[in-house]
Amino acid sequence: MTTDQQSSASQPPRPLGLLAELTHRCPQRCVYCSNPLELVRKNAELTTEQWAQVFEQAADLGVIHVHLSGGEPTVRQDLNELVEAARQAGLYTNLITSGTLLDEAQVHRFAEIGLDHVQLSIEDSDAELADHIGGFDGAHLRKMAAAAWIGDAGLRLTINAVVHRQNLHHLEEMIQLAVSVGADRMEVAHAQYQGWALKNRDALLPTRDQLDEATRLVEQYRQRLDGTMAIDYVVPDYHAIRPKACMGGWGRQFLAVSPDGRVLPCHGADSIPELTFDNVRDRPLDEIWFDGEAFERFRGVDWMPEPCKSCPEKTKDWGGCRCQAFALTGDAANTDPVCALSPQHDLVEQAVEEATTTDEPTWQYRGFGDGGDVVQVDGSIASDDG
Ligand code: SF4
Ligand code: FES
Repeated sequence: MTTDQQSSASQPPRPLGLLAELTHRCPQRCVYCSNPLELVRKNAELTTEQWAQVFEQAADLGVIHVHLSGGEPTVRQDLNELVEAARQAGLYTNLITSGTLLDEAQVHRFAEIGLDHVQLSIEDSDAELADHIGGFDGAHLRKMAAAAWIGDAGLRLTINAVVHRQNLHHLEEMIQLAVSVGADRMEVAHAQYQGWALKNRDALLPTRDQLDEATRLVEQYRQRLDGTMAIDYVVPDYHAIRPKACMGGWGRQFLAVSPDGRVLPCHGADSIPELTFDNVRDRPLDEIWFDGEAFERFRGVDWMPEPCKSCPEKTKDWGGCRCQAFALTGDAANTDPVCALSPQHDLVEQAVEEATTTDEPTWQYRGFGDGGDVVQVDGSIASDDG
């Protein structure tokens, strides 16, 4: 089906956002990284021209925002060209970066070529703990320098803080840090337990008390900072009784393109073994969006089992998260076990109980291969043959 044929009401809506995972290379090794456990190597990445074509096709499809992400997108030597290509396609460009590889000249160059927005991640307010969580010495100081340059260049800035049991005691300081660097917005997001975060769940899941305190603090600062800095808050699924509408519903608002060109309904979808993904090298984006097997598999409500099938919430949360259903129950078509109506909800309750009573949890850093590969600050991978 082409875009011209999809005007009838029964056709899926057009996507609003594109996550462009430009690379999986990254100098950091965050223990909750949302990238898949099998990372794509440099020699399989799309070229500059292929990405430019993706941006054009995405804009034609109706996409408004492109999130230039990774890994660490600034390891791409052609990033300026990619930003320009996305701008030329008419997309709003948001760079999601750790900031660790930026320098002042590059930040000003972004402003000159019209980058619209930067999301800069922090791991903690305390430099030592931040570097420990991200697995990269000196990262926090580099980020603080990057934040100052972003402000000087007049770029809009959001500070992203992923929060979990190991850093929630510094949430107030993290909010104050975001204010001090002049952020327009802050995203306080509890880790979502997929990919590397699922591997490290026992070390990261917050206690109920930590969650309640975090929610109270966010509310307090939202009021205090009204008109100065907005705070978005993403709560952790594991303490909820109803799931979120993950991705706004499968194949409804969002698509992701992996570094090697596979088109995914969400960034974690390749953790679901039953799915096969079309590639932008072989098929135009509109065909993949409207007819691609992976997009069709969980779109709408026809695929749903009970209790979702007869639930009045089903067109609000779309049955929750498919990746989480697969990760926890082994079947992506099950009701997300976060839902208290799921017959497998006890899996979630048990995970919280076990994690928060574990004495000295250890974690595994994100990495290529067995997690032991070292990514240099120039983006090369010590053991990468690509
Ligand atoms: Fe959502 Fe399904 Fe739970 Fe209903 S049963 S609230 S549709 S996850
Ligand atoms: Fe894949 Fe939720 S992360 S559907």
